[in-house]
Amino acid sequence: MNILALLSEKIINALVAAGAPKCSEAHIRSSIKSKFGDYQANGIMSAAKKIGIPPLQLAEKMLPLLNLENIASKVEISGPGFINIFLDKQWIAKQIEFNFQNKKLAISDVTPQTIIIDYSAPNVAKQMHVGHLRSTIIGDAVARTLNFLGHKVIRANHIGDWGTQFGMLIAYLEKVKYKNTNDITLADLEAFYRKAQKNYDEDEKFAEVARNYVVKLQSGDEFCRKMWRKLVDITMAQNQRIYHRLNVTLTEDDVMGESLYNDMLPNIVADLTAKGLAVESDGAIVVYLDEFKNKDGDIMGVIIQKKDGGYLYTTTDIACAKYRHEILHADRVLYYIDSRQHKHLMHAWAIVRKAGYIPATMSLEHHMLGMMLGKDGKPFRTRSGETIQLDDLLDEAIERAGALIRQKNPDMPEKELQSISKVVGIGAIKYADLSKNRTTDYIFDWDSMLTFDGNTAPYMQYAYARVASILKRANINPTALSELVILENEYEQSLAIRLLQFEETILTVANEGLPYIMCAYLYDLAKLFSSFYEHCPILVTKNIASKESRLKLALLTQKTLKIGLDILGIETVERM
Ligand code: ARG
Repeated sequence: MNILALLSEKIINALVAAGAPKCSEAHIRSSIKSKFGDYQANGIMSAAKKIGIPPLQLAEKMLPLLNLENIASKVEISGPGFINIFLDKQWIAKQIEFNFQNKKLAISDVTPQTIIIDYSAPNVAKQMHVGHLRSTIIGDAVARTLNFLGHKVIRANHIGDWGTQFGMLIAYLEKVKYKNTNDITLADLEAFYRKAQKNYDEDEKFAEVARNYVVKLQSGDEFCRKMWRKLVDITMAQNQRIYHRLNVTLTEDDVMGESLYNDMLPNIVADLTAKGLAVESDGAIVVYLDEFKNKDGDIMGVIIQKKDGGYLYTTTDIACAKYRHEILHADRVLYYIDSRQHKHLMHAWAIVRKAGYIPATMSLEHHMLGMMLGKDGKPFRTRSGETIQLDDLLDEAIERAGALIRQKNPDMPEKELQSISKVVGIGAIKYADLSKNRTTDYIFDWDSMLTFDGNTAPYMQYAYARVASILKRANINPTALSELVILENEYEQSLAIRLLQFEETILTVANEGLPYIMCAYLYDLAKLFSSFYEHCPILVTKNIASKESRLKLALLTQKTLKIGLDILGIETVERM
């Protein structure tokens, strides 16, 4: 049930019938205070402005035309022309009943789209760093959400697997006569990378060899390709382990790295030149974009091919967007990337649109990520200033979660403690990131993510386990609950309304790509369940009708929490 959509439609119909233009919007949202009802519509103000009459007059005119029979028990005008809607208890109960009987929470079908999520995208020969962690976690939650709604989701891991660094690495491995390429770890690779870079900067001969290898690699030389493949495989095997530990759904099949687009690049440069969009400038090929200005206030020139013939990150992203249209037939592409790459994407996409490589209806969206900062407000690093290895970070999370769970359960068997610590520790890192608006910088803080107070993974997982344990004690067969839902008091009613708001919440997450909205919803739901349980006894109630109705509310809460946490990629346990 999508209450928001239903009420919006009714409000718009009434507005139009009262003389407002067809394009009027209801601007409806769930009310902040109960005295304003369950929902409030604010769209009358702008509609009245459009037709030039006072909002109150339009409100009074539309109210009798607003058909909310059986849905609302009271509708009133408040303030300068807001409409407060109080939902009818019996109507709510009926919707709950319907959701209860339905597997997927009775969510209406969406028109399925092909949606690509570009996320994670670590670079080869380097450890995945905390910057990639944010994109990985948030991108994955959005992929799960869209998948749940029935869209065709393509996960695209745009790994940095192409470029001059490979010439450098191959040259270095050859220089030191490295034999055991089968035993190289990612940590070794990183050390090689640093040394290779040093050699490249200091030794012109070495640099020459390295550049030569790049050319060879690009022209498909067998030895170079083999070495390159090895470097990619070593890196991605390690990253795949991290994805697995993080319960992230990316697999080897989702890798669509920069190298995938390499063969398209010469044609793109030729085509942009033929179309008159790209021109030669000082030996390089440049696209001038007059809608962008550089720091001197001049028209922005975006280089797509360097003097030496090499292509750039931007050229690849131009090809990539084209590929996503021509080959993958995407309706929508969501890029979960650091906000510092915003300009880069805007330039690439402006060129893509000018060249007509994708239809106007295809949406390219940069879902910007702020930086992950330490408690000191500086980029998150170890105390000695090094980048933090993700494996170490995850180990620490599990260890800290273990201590927290042990405190609560001194007698829990070690084996159970270990498996719960994993779920809570990994959950804590993910949830802390998911629950914040992704566009802002984010402070990584163990204490605030590993506490049972507030909007955290431990709180949510505990809330879930609690409902599960109540229901276990009730020992009921859900299909045997024959009494209908009745909402006798405000606690039951508030919980019920919140339960029905799952659909409008998940649709907002899907449209805006913002999982923190789901976290906030689930947190609120868990709190409402808590006060419901406190005031509405379930197990000891003698009245069968109340008992069964409350059990239904509890079961639906359990199911909603489970589905909600699932689409965030957060695991649950039955006891903690
Ligand atoms: N590998 C890049 C980085 O580490 C991120 C790639 C993002 N995706 C893209 N289509 N440009 O910064």
